[in-house]
Amino acid sequence: MRSLIRISDLSCNDIDRLADTAEDIIASPEKYSHICNGKKLASLFFEPSTRTRLSFEAAMYELGGQVIGFSEAQSSSSAKGESVADTAKVISCYADIIAMRHPKEGAPLVAAMNASVPVINAGDGGHNHPTQTLADLLTIRREKKTFSGLTVGLCGDLKFGRTVHSLIEAMSRYPGNRFVLISPEELKLPSYVKNDFLKKNGIPYMQTSDLDEALPELDILYMTRVQKERFFNEEDYLRLKDSYILTPDKLRSAKDSLCIMHPLPRVNEISTAVDSDPRACYFRQVLNGKYMRMALIKMLLEEARI
Ligand code: NCD
Repeated sequence: MRSLIRISDLSCNDIDRLADTAEDIIASPEKYSHICNGKKLASLFFEPSTRTRLSFEAAMYELGGQVIGFSEAQSSSSAKGESVADTAKVISCYADIIAMRHPKEGAPLVAAMNASVPVINAGDGGHNHPTQTLADLLTIRREKKTFSGLTVGLCGDLKFGRTVHSLIEAMSRYPGNRFVLISPEELKLPSYVKNDFLKKNGIPYMQTSDLDEALPELDILYMTRVQKERFFNEEDYLRLKDSYILTPDKLRSAKDSLCIMHPLPRVNEISTAVDSDPRACYFRQVLNGKYMRMALIKMLLEEARI
């Protein structure tokens, strides 16, 4: 039975199928509004979330299913010391599919190894966030009409930003993409991501700390928040938090066709004055996330039935 722990648990074909389903849901939502009747999603969030949790829940309701779960570790038995493995075995008795966010890297994988229903990783520590990547990919497909031949700039906290790691893993599978990695020295992309996806596949990339210099050549600019909760000391966070602030003025040198993305929540890294720029895609990206999660739940439940 398939779970989604990292984005490469899905082939490029699977991604196309999911994006096609998402497009069909957008066009004819009524066709899908009962396909999960009688099914339950367990939404297990051991870490704060707005979009991811609510979009999973909205996705399940819009498919006709129901949702159980918790949004704080303190209100679950993990506060009593229960292991992730035991929690996964127990929840498998109540739900047909699990979405789990956890501060520990690898926790959703442990859950998948112990659950008897599909598990979806809704973000594990500073590691991966494959369903955000599904939202990102539908956005790229809708805005750019292709996953290939793109110059993708990733800017901000590339070290702890799990959405960045999963997006690089996904986009490095398509031909002709180049990456521009824009970050302060301390927040550079971890070497395992560089080695496993970029170097191993001979994908061109450059690292810089200068957003202004990189901007004119980009087809996609993926801005990220500095991940406060993963810092060991407040002083470093305060020094780095406003490293990049995208403003309408800066965007004058960018392509007219630039697609500006952000997984959200935004703190200061994109000025609200950018929101009315037609190149700002981040609120469309949010909606795309719900449709891709609907398509994913449908696919994993259908596969689990076979
Ligand atoms: C991201 C996350 O949780 O990693 N948020 C999200 O799910 N859209 C990005 C972030 O928290 O900065």
